[in-house]
This record gives sequence, C-alpha cells and structure tokens, in this order.
Amino acid sequence: MPAIGYLNGEFQSPDSALVPIDERGHNFGDGVYEVLRVYSGRAFLPDWHFERLERSLHAIAIDNPHTRDEWAELTNEAIRRSGEAEALVYLQVTRGFATRSHSFPQARPSVSMTVRKVPEKDPSLRGTLLCLPDERWGNVWIKTINLLPNVIAKEVAHRAGANEALLVRNGEVTEGSSSNAWFVRDGVIWTAPLDRYILAGVTRRFVLQLAGELGLSVREQRLPFDALKDVDEVFITGTTSEVQPIHKVFVDESTRSALQLLPDTAPHTLLQQVTNPVTLWETEGTGDVTAKLREAYADYVSRFRMLEV
Ligand SMILES: Cc1ncc(COP(=O)(O)O)c(C=O)c1O
Repeated sequence: MPAIGYLNGEFQSPDSALVPIDERGHNFGDGVYEVLRVYSGRAFLPDWHFERLERSLHAIAIDNPHTRDEWAELTNEAIRRSGEAEALVYLQVTRGFATRSHSFPQARPSVSMTVRKVPEKDPSLRGTLLCLPDERWGNVWIKTINLLPNVIAKEVAHRAGANEALLVRNGEVTEGSSSNAWFVRDGVIWTAPLDRYILAGVTRRFVLQLAGELGLSVREQRLPFDALKDVDEVFITGTTSEVQPIHKVFVDESTRSALQLLPDTAPHTLLQQVTNPVTLWETEGTGDVTAKLREAYADYVSRFRMLEV
C-alpha cells in the first residue's frame, strides 16, 4: 500500500503534498510531533500520545488545533484511508506559515500526518548500544521536531555497528537517541526519572504500569555511567522498538571523558568515527526481567488486537 499523507485538511500522497518555504517547521524546527503505533488497524495508547502532544504544544505556546476527540478522529481516518493494519502514524504540528522572522507570527498552526506500514523487524538483530555524550538542549522532555543531536547520535552509532546510541549527561545515563533506557541491577529496574532530561516515553509509561502489575521493583533514577558494568540486564523501549533486549554496550575510549564533561573545544565534525571501541557490558541471552516485560507487552498487544482492551 502507498503511504497516506495529510496536510491541513487534505489527504494526499506524502510525495505530492507541498509545504511552503516559509513554514516555521521547515525554517526553524518550530514545531512538535508524535508517533503512534497501529496494531490490527487501531492506534495504540492514543490518549497518552495526545496528552503528551498537548504538553509539548503548551510548552512552546502553539495553540492546539484540535481537541483530543478530533485528533483521534483524524488519526483514525488517516489509518482507515491508508488501509494498513500494522502501521506508524507520524503527526506534526508547527507554528504555521509566515515570512521568515524569529518572532512569533500571527499564523495558524500547520498540521501534517503520514501513515506508513511499520518496517519489518530483523529478528537476527542483536541490540547493541554505543555510549555517546548527551549534547541535546535542556528541554528534551518536549517532543520537538529539532532532532539534529538525536539524528547525529543515531548515525554515529549506526556507523559504529550499534543500533542505538545510549546518551550520557554529566556521567549519568539519560536515554537513547529515540528510546528510553532501562537497566536491571540486583533485581531492581532502573530508568531515568521524568525530568527535563528525558522524553516521557509513552512506552516507558506503559512498561512501568506492566512492571507494577508484575510486582517488579522499579527505581526511577539515572544510572551512573560507571555503574553500567555492574548491571545484569539492559533494554530499551519505544513505540517502534517496543521492549528491545540489549546484548552489548560499548564506548569509544577516545570520547569516554566527554561522557563526564563535554570539552570546551569545538570538534571539526560531529560525525566522529569510533576508533577505539571498548565493550562495557555484554550478555548472551535475554534476562528474566526483560523477558517477563516483553511477554507481558506482547500479551497485552494480542488482547488489544482482539479488541479486548
Ligand atoms: C528521545 C526519545 N526518547 C524516548 C522515546 C520513546 O518514546 P515513546 O515510547 O513514546 O515512543 C523516543 C521516541 O521517539 C525518543 O525520541
């Protein structure tokens, strides 16, 4: 099925929908977004996504163009038109179109959306994380479309053979470049607290709920980078990755000190090659806690598919 696109009231192909040059998202990254997973033709946890969208919009003073019911209707209509049962909905709201000027214009927010088939997961993919300094701004809790540091971190990780970057700020782990990070140590689950330094993942919220139902103990605290070597399990969560076990975490020895404190000197490029990889943590199988959470997640999704939840 071809992907479906939506731009300010019109459904059209994402390839033909045109965004004006003077669109604030295009010029300034002045906007926010959400990504929802669709299982068996239905959006998963839509209220939590629309709630976070409200918070992001409020944070940067863009008027929310829709009520939660209208967002749900629009999303459902896009899913229906796409004909995809297993899909990702991407939706974006920017401050609208106006002649380029830093100050806020009098403009109507611009809404765009795509629905695309969810990419196939490679079952042989072994989760590997590369530790990198978290160079993002201090408001990453807002789901803004300004993702340059995330995009660069992901690219550096991919080039080094990892499938995700594990970001470290002042010697403590925050999250992944597009996922939340979790560790299990002596039977206790660690994940960073909801503050300005992580995105409040919808999957994180859901997994915390599952952990509660399973009676697992959780500590919402940033893991010190130095404690990474002592953890028993590592996994990441996200709308697309769901609960993904991690098998290896490594660091580039030449950038290790930047994980404690970013150097003042500007690098020539941000796409530095990993020249001296050092494994910090490795495991063969999937740990018990990760396996329990994966199973509980999959169970819930299969009931959701049958319309039981
Ligand atoms: C930086 C970051 N953290 C965490 C997440 C996970 O959020 P969610 O579970 O809502 O997909 C994402 C998702 O894109 C992200 O970009």
